[in-house]
Amino acid sequence: MTKVPPHLDRPADALDAAGLSEAIRFHNRAYFVDDAPVIPDQEFDRLVERLRQLEPDAPVLQEIGAGELSPDDKVEHESPMLSLDKCYDHAGLLHWAREQAGPFAASPKVDGAACTIHYDGNGKLRLAATRGDGRRGESIGHNVVDIPNVPKRLPAELVQRFGGLAIEVRGEVYMPLSNFEPIKEIYANPRNVAAGAIKAKEGGGVSAVELCFFAYDLLGWSVATERDKADLLQQMGFDPAPVEICSADGAAEIYQRWSDARPELDYEIDGVVFKIDDIEGQAKLGMTAHHPRWAIAWKFQGDSDQTTLVDVSFSLSRTGTITPVAVVEPVILSRASVTRATLHNLSNLRRLNLRLGDTLLLTRRGGVIPHVEGNRGGGDEPVMPPATCPSCGQPTVERQSTRRVSGEDVLTETLHCSAPNDCPAVRRERLLHFTAVLDMDGFGDKIIDGLLERELVADAAGLFDLDEASLLTLPRMGELLARRLLSAIDAARQVAPATLLVALGIDTLGRHAAGLLAARWTLHEILALEAEQLADLHSLGAITAERIVAGLAEQAPLIERLLARIELQRPAEATSTGGLLADQVVVFTGALQQLNRRDAQQLVVRLGGTAGSSITKSTTLVVVGGDGLEAARPSSKLKKARALADGGQAIEIISEEAFHARLP
Ligand code: IVH
Repeated sequence: MTKVPPHLDRPADALDAAGLSEAIRFHNRAYFVDDAPVIPDQEFDRLVERLRQLEPDAPVLQEIGAGELSPDDKVEHESPMLSLDKCYDHAGLLHWAREQAGPFAASPKVDGAACTIHYDGNGKLRLAATRGDGRRGESIGHNVVDIPNVPKRLPAELVQRFGGLAIEVRGEVYMPLSNFEPIKEIYANPRNVAAGAIKAKEGGGVSAVELCFFAYDLLGWSVATERDKADLLQQMGFDPAPVEICSADGAAEIYQRWSDARPELDYEIDGVVFKIDDIEGQAKLGMTAHHPRWAIAWKFQGDSDQTTLVDVSFSLSRTGTITPVAVVEPVILSRASVTRATLHNLSNLRRLNLRLGDTLLLTRRGGVIPHVEGNRGGGDEPVMPPATCPSCGQPTVERQSTRRVSGEDVLTETLHCSAPNDCPAVRRERLLHFTAVLDMDGFGDKIIDGLLERELVADAAGLFDLDEASLLTLPRMGELLARRLLSAIDAARQVAPATLLVALGIDTLGRHAAGLLAARWTLHEILALEAEQLADLHSLGAITAERIVAGLAEQAPLIERLLARIELQRPAEATSTGGLLADQVVVFTGALQQLNRRDAQQLVVRLGGTAGSSITKSTTLVVVGGDGLEAARPSSKLKKARALADGGQAIEIISEEAFHARLP
């Protein structure tokens, strides 16, 4: 056995800071590197504790562990850290539970930062990591050691009972509200403080903000039920999330109880998690790429509050529809300031009977989208829909349509600009849509506004006539940017017929309909179609068919001008059913290494999928080029895809390599 150098072989109290540092380094090495500890753990802990008192900034305090507690490395999760499926009412929960065998274990969904903590076979804290993208997280062990209710060492009798197996404990790091109170003027919410402190590269910040840990999962030691898991976590020295057992019907009562208890809790919760209690039952159900099938979060609706109606603005869409938007006194909902809420359409505006100065009840639906739930009145000047378009001044027109909502026909009135083709706001929205669908990088709203203001383009076809000299007349335009824009224009000159159809921005002619059309007819045939022929197509109704035909007729002159400037790619041998990628909407992001983007998109179509250019609610698969998945600064598409995945969308994110591995 390694001998302790005599000058270090003393109790903690008898050493100065330098001696303590040296001793800690020595024992740390003996334990982690040589696997031959010289002193018991308690004695080691005393050395560390004493040095913390004498010299809290001593570098050695950051080095404890086998290097694995240090902040520099990424940690691969052996089993992915997934999200949770979610619902917002009892019906949603019952729907999820319809084929699940209960009983269920209910625990509060603590609003913090997910974290996993690894213990080695001796029960010693080895490393900790954030969730990251679910597959790889950041190493945060150097901060987690400062969370008081995270044991640095597990009780010896338990370690022995489980035969020296390494384990992982997962849970939520959060900031108690009582600790947040004094700093609430400075920080937006406790979750951000917790997430920031836990990820800081410099250690020491966590003790300053006093974080806590809620344990909800245990990997590596087998247990029979969620209840047993919570008991065991407790014996290990953790504070487990409280667990209650219930049936699917009984879930509502537990949800209500947690909802009512929120004001009294010292931590934020944003819902209640229901899991199948039996762990074997869980394993049988497995998981999707996004969430386990054996658990669901029943989330609280976003907070609601009252505020005053200041104005109603009317904004135009690319189809010429005018949408009323309530402008309100700023109000904090679900911890974010809200000043605008869409009023959706004319019917809804009329139903609410708004007057300026009215008191409105606002919520954030699904915790996100601000929504006017009701009008408490009190205002004076009535809000009238405009008789003329707010952008071009032409008369507005009202239209009525019926939609089936939960089996009932609902009449909706909408307001429109009567001359959308000449309306500047509509033109702007159409150009933005066109450039987004064709993936024309760099064409944001500033550039489009500049082009319209200087009358350099009037419609999408005009984009293809731009040259460097005309671009350089735009404000803040340099040669580099101008060339980038020109190369985006050039890349867009080759386009698949379905993509062009979508880019036209015709109401109801989205990816699904465009894909069906382009798979069957050439663009010229499509332009000559009658509504009846279209309505025969699987899954397009008569109304959609009519709108598409009318939209195409209206845009015929533009399409002709476009066709004179671009080249349609050969229609791919699309198979709308049965292909390897049938029903998949695939989006590529980042620099692809093996194929150029257009070829990759064609490949998707050939395999029966749809190639999307931007991440939307219908995207199902995102392929990330090169090593973009690991990039420190992920692309905005990747960020959006991750956000949607976190929000519950079944969207799979894979590397380019993994994508090719799936192909025939
Ligand atoms: S169970 C997905 N239980 O919610 C793996 N998660 O939106 C099973 N969370 O990342 C998770 N409180 O960090 C579970 N009582 C609780 C929870 C909880 C908070 C977090 C968790 C996860 C996120 C999913």
